[in-house]
Amino acid sequence: MKILIVGAGGREHALAWKIATSPLCRRLYVAPGNGGTAEWNIPVAANDIAGLTEFARREKVDLTVVGPEEPLTLGLADALRAENLTVFGPGREAARLEGSKAFAKEVMAKAGAPTAASRVFTEQAAACAYIEKTGTPVVVKADGLAAGKGVIVTRTAAEAKQAVHDVMGGAFGRAGERIVVEERLTGPEVSLLCFCDGETARPMTAVQDHKRIFDGDAGPNTGGMGVCAPPSFWTPALEAEAMERVVTPTLREMRRRGAPFTGVLFVGLMLTDAGLRVLEYNVRFGDPETQALMMLLQSDLVPLLLACARGGGLETARVEWRPEAAVCVVMAAPGYPGPYAKDIPLALPQATPEYAAIFHAGTALRDGAYLSAGGRVLGVTARGADLTAARARAYALTEKIGFPGARFRRDIAGVERSGSGDEKNTGR
Ligand code: AMP
Ligand code: GLY
Repeated sequence: MKILIVGAGGREHALAWKIATSPLCRRLYVAPGNGGTAEWNIPVAANDIAGLTEFARREKVDLTVVGPEEPLTLGLADALRAENLTVFGPGREAARLEGSKAFAKEVMAKAGAPTAASRVFTEQAAACAYIEKTGTPVVVKADGLAAGKGVIVTRTAAEAKQAVHDVMGGAFGRAGERIVVEERLTGPEVSLLCFCDGETARPMTAVQDHKRIFDGDAGPNTGGMGVCAPPSFWTPALEAEAMERVVTPTLREMRRRGAPFTGVLFVGLMLTDAGLRVLEYNVRFGDPETQALMMLLQSDLVPLLLACARGGGLETARVEWRPEAAVCVVMAAPGYPGPYAKDIPLALPQATPEYAAIFHAGTALRDGAYLSAGGRVLGVTARGADLTAARARAYALTEKIGFPGARFRRDIAGVERSGSGDEKNTGR
């Protein structure tokens, strides 16, 4: 089969790494890819819907796997399906689960999924009046896609009103014309990603993201500084509850709306004192969740992607996970998530042990040398018998990487690390 992966991040490198091992994959392309996927890259941008469709048609691509949310919300899957091409990822209508937070809340309500109380506003004054009235801490969310930055968690009414002013005042462009004001919840978070063929959902190993830039969850939010899988607090009972109360009813509701969900449904959950709550839906693989998941997935990924893309057959497909744990430590450019340096030369080991991989995100391969080309640069990933072993292996591998000024957390998978190479990190 010819397989095309759309995207340029660490997630796409991890997918390519896994798919390349499948006996079903004869030819692989990544559009546009990064330094780590250079051998498969084609120069078509991830949101160039016409260019990607034309490429898939011309090359007779058998399966297109869409990484990021933007092309999905722009209708890439619909455009490919209109050409009778097979694509992993939801169409534009089902992608609204991520593309519009107001739509997501509406589906959660219809599905009866436990979630935070919320209201949707299109006027600042009405939103501010509601904030005054509720009196409890709230989260202000831009309705549309805002590159993962459209959620503002506030402590006081004054902060919340400022957030309303910023979001609706244009900080996120049109994405903030409509907002969701939501009750603020507390508790550990978990990402539960599920393969979905429209009817059946098969959960992946649960993953815990570490979104803040600094150790101890301090500093601003980022695209994700590392993950561990499965998190120590996760249990089979919680997985069963999430499937029964959130994922299955969401799929049912999407079918009822005539927009069956196929691809990865990624539910962001919070384990509050009152029980599981769904915070958000994403309609794609997570980044860097996927880096850890691909290390743990034992089965061939391609038949699973095909079952989802074809809209059936997932119920009987083999989905086997290694009974191990995985950790991914993201190494970011100095300055990230603020303005950061680029073109930093990277010295990478020639080979990695069988239990580890260095996934590229913002990198480029120029004249045979790897350079940094983005904020999140590498995802150093390892598996082991448990989280402690996986963590030790991942951090040991970071020591073998030459990346001047790299910023990375020392506490992925829970334990604060100190010691060697501390100047590499800015700390708190
Ligand atoms: P995003 O992935 O950009 O939608 O951001 C979602 C993040 O915002 C979550 O991972 C939480 O950390 C935070 N968040 C979203 N909703 C709530 C909520 N109701 N209460 C507390 N934190 C929230
Ligand atoms: N790591 C969070 C996300 O992919 O949205």
